[in-house]
Amino acid sequence: MKAVICTKYGKPEVLKVQEIEKPTANKNEILVKIHSTSVNSADVRVRSLDAKGIMKTFMKLALGFSKPRNPILGTVFSGIIEEVGEKVTRFKLGDKVFGMTGFKFGTYSEYIALNEKSLTYAMPENANFNEAVSLIFGGQTAIYFLEKAKIRNLKKPKVLIIGATGSVGVAATQLCLHYGHDVTVVCSSKGLELVQKLGVKNIILYDKQDFTKMDLKFDFIFDAHGKSNKKQCKNLLKNNGVFKTVGGLEMASESLQQLESLKNLFETGAIKSIIDRTYLMKDVVEAHQYVDSGRKKGNVILKIHK
Ligand SMILES: NC(=O)c1ccc[n+]([C@@H]2O[C@H](COP(=O)([O-])OP(=O)(O)OC[C@H]3O[C@@H](n4cnc5c(N)ncnc54)[C@H](OP(=O)(O)O)[C@@H]3O)[C@@H](O)[C@H]2O)c1
Repeated sequence: MKAVICTKYGKPEVLKVQEIEKPTANKNEILVKIHSTSVNSADVRVRSLDAKGIMKTFMKLALGFSKPRNPILGTVFSGIIEEVGEKVTRFKLGDKVFGMTGFKFGTYSEYIALNEKSLTYAMPENANFNEAVSLIFGGQTAIYFLEKAKIRNLKKPKVLIIGATGSVGVAATQLCLHYGHDVTVVCSSKGLELVQKLGVKNIILYDKQDFTKMDLKFDFIFDAHGKSNKKQCKNLLKNNGVFKTVGGLEMASESLQQLESLKNLFETGAIKSIIDRTYLMKDVVEAHQYVDSGRKKGNVILKIHK
């Protein structure tokens, strides 16, 4: 089978499509024929070992010294179950599933063998493979941080989402609108059309206005881009207001419940899939170059099987 191998840390060109042995499912595993994966900020970060100082050493310890220990990158997938181990009870042959492998990576590949207890769930009934996979990375992260902020018990909380057009941003924005929060977003003029399409009314364009100087107060500020900090935003927070950022040390943990929620939210039309570009597996270098630009809107899909 074909897989994208990260031959060493570095520029997108370190990624090579190679023939490797196709895995098989052992008694507790399912074999998924991957139809789609996505190229996320996390993938480009690992590929380029993008971290400063001591964090770079921690990353090498966690991921591998000269190249990733699992050289097949990719943390999310959608596909069809092609083999089922004899002890598997949660799935059957032909099930359409989507899921995340997190720090185990391995989804830039035609097939993956996964324990049936892994973070794999039935795909939304009304989603195609690209739509399903596009929900996961940003959606899972947004659900995690919104739950941690504990604002759903407030009545129509005022929420500011900084960086509303990235993968995490489009998910957080849609979730907050769905929950009926009073949403203001920060994005660039290039992202205006997208956030308007999502239904946002209060939009601050960071290339036209310094959002930190706004005369507004929020119950919750979520930096989905990760470059601001609580100190910069302190004048925008109400007393007891909560600030969360994707750019700090807090890492979003992953769960089956998040996949279940994403499935339900998509099936009921509460969230849409936002796909910027779709690349074939053979064009993975180009896909990484685009995500490296930091300008993608929503999600970039890597199509593995048609
Ligand atoms: N802590 C965690 O657990 C966790 C989990 C997932 C992701 N992350 C981190 O979260 C960050 C976002 O991830 P992502 O996948 O959503 O990224 P992404 O999709 O690659 O973000 C790209 C978006 O950011 C926008 N952007 C660029 N500069 C901006 C600025 N100054 N202000 C506001 N928006 C800006 C871009 O639009 P314009 O160019 O039009 O501005 C683009 O739409 C990454 O740094 C990632 O490493 C952390």
